[in-house]
Amino acid sequence: MVVAHRKVAQDRSVPANYRSIDFVIPPSTPGPPSRDDVLELLRAVVDPELGADIVSLGMVPSVEITPDGDVAVEIKLTIGGCPLRGQIQKDVRSRVAVHPGVRDVRIQWGEMTPEERSEVMTKARWNAREQAADTAVPTTCRVIAVASGKGGVGKSSVTVNLAAAVAARGFTVGVLDADIWGFSVPRLLGIDEPLEARRMEGFDKPRIIPNELTVGRGLTRGTLKVVSTGFLVEEGTALMWRGLMLTKAVEQFLHDVHWDDLDYLFIDMPPGTGDVQMGLARMLPRTDLLIVTTPAQAAQRVAARAADMARRSFLRVCGVVENMSAFTCDHGETYALFGEGGGQALADEIGVPLLGRIPLEPAVAAGGDAGAPVALDGSGPAADEFRTIAARLVEDVAPPANMAGCSARMLQMVEAALGAADAGRAGATGQASES
Ligand SMILES: Nc1ncnc2c1ncn2[C@@H]1O[C@H](COP(=O)(O)OP(=O)(O)OP(=O)(O)O)[C@@H](O)[C@H]1O
Ligand SMILES: [Mg+2]
Repeated sequence: MVVAHRKVAQDRSVPANYRSIDFVIPPSTPGPPSRDDVLELLRAVVDPELGADIVSLGMVPSVEITPDGDVAVEIKLTIGGCPLRGQIQKDVRSRVAVHPGVRDVRIQWGEMTPEERSEVMTKARWNAREQAADTAVPTTCRVIAVASGKGGVGKSSVTVNLAAAVAARGFTVGVLDADIWGFSVPRLLGIDEPLEARRMEGFDKPRIIPNELTVGRGLTRGTLKVVSTGFLVEEGTALMWRGLMLTKAVEQFLHDVHWDDLDYLFIDMPPGTGDVQMGLARMLPRTDLLIVTTPAQAAQRVAARAADMARRSFLRVCGVVENMSAFTCDHGETYALFGEGGGQALADEIGVPLLGRIPLEPAVAAGGDAGAPVALDGSGPAADEFRTIAARLVEDVAPPANMAGCSARMLQMVEAALGAADAGRAGATGQASES
């Protein structure tokens, strides 16, 4: 099968039948948020263990807002010592703070009664069944979309290098190339196998199986699961894709790809358009945006627009990565070819951390051309910086869901064991048992 990367990659024209989906864009008012605004923001906070957002699980019994924008949220945990508390706390604070009218966020912790707990478990099980068809991305998976205000700043390079560096720490990492017409992920990872669709038990439609790559060594060996239209487009079939809406294609990748187990999903966003971002906000509201900018102050202003779009779609920006920072030549001279300070200025403006600065380095482009991300086995400042940013993501900014020892899960296991014991008893006494 011949894969026509370049042919399609050139074509960024918007097809005649392209329509953007109607979204209600909340006004960016400077006043305090309403109770509904806060609840809407909290829908992005997912209890990874219970597989649903904390609002629909009934974990937010009260929200109070002062005219000055101080927000007090009450959160009821399944059990007081739940190890997910730290993560939920961080997520609640950062999501509510996305509203421009919020000055401070306070959390009051409560604990569910045994009745409430069993109700929430029933709801969670129901959600797990109902939402299975929604997206195939597991609720325990951290979703990081790499975006920028304009093209060519290195989104795709940053996406594949960070995904590879995270996977090389022993994680299972998905890479979704949401740049439907301008895909570059297949080339950057050196994959050109077409995607396979397989019939699987429990699904009426065939499932798309992502291409897999094993990265890293020994105990920290991880897996990359990669999906891109570059694996689907054959010579001469590009027209079929031009007729599809961008968001529709991304939606299909989220629904019909058999992602299975994933710790992280990195999404390489297309340049410019806000539609995919809005679509993601609707389909996966827990998505974190990572904004890439060059050090030039002008680029930083463009990237600020991407951040503003994020705020209006209620997505959280988890950090800024400055790419193409000062180049250091073999003699040790440093040249700030694309200016200086843009990354820090943008991070300060939107109030998020600058996660790192990737120098302009021929090894990054060469690694991309060779399909071997420099962050994997490469040496030099750019490779080191990619690995440092990956470590910051995993250890601090977007740590993996840590569910070990969570009491609610233990409860579920006990319930399952009791269920099995009941079934065993029913079998022993000759009664019909529900399966
Ligand atoms: N730090 C870097 N040092 C050297 N070259 C780089 C660096 N980052 C990216 N490049 C090169 O710059 C070019 C653009 O990068 P990339 O394709 O990742 O950008 P993009 O933002 O995804 O572009 P598009 O908007 O077209 O999708 C590529 O040729 C890539 O190899
Ligand atoms: Mg790109």
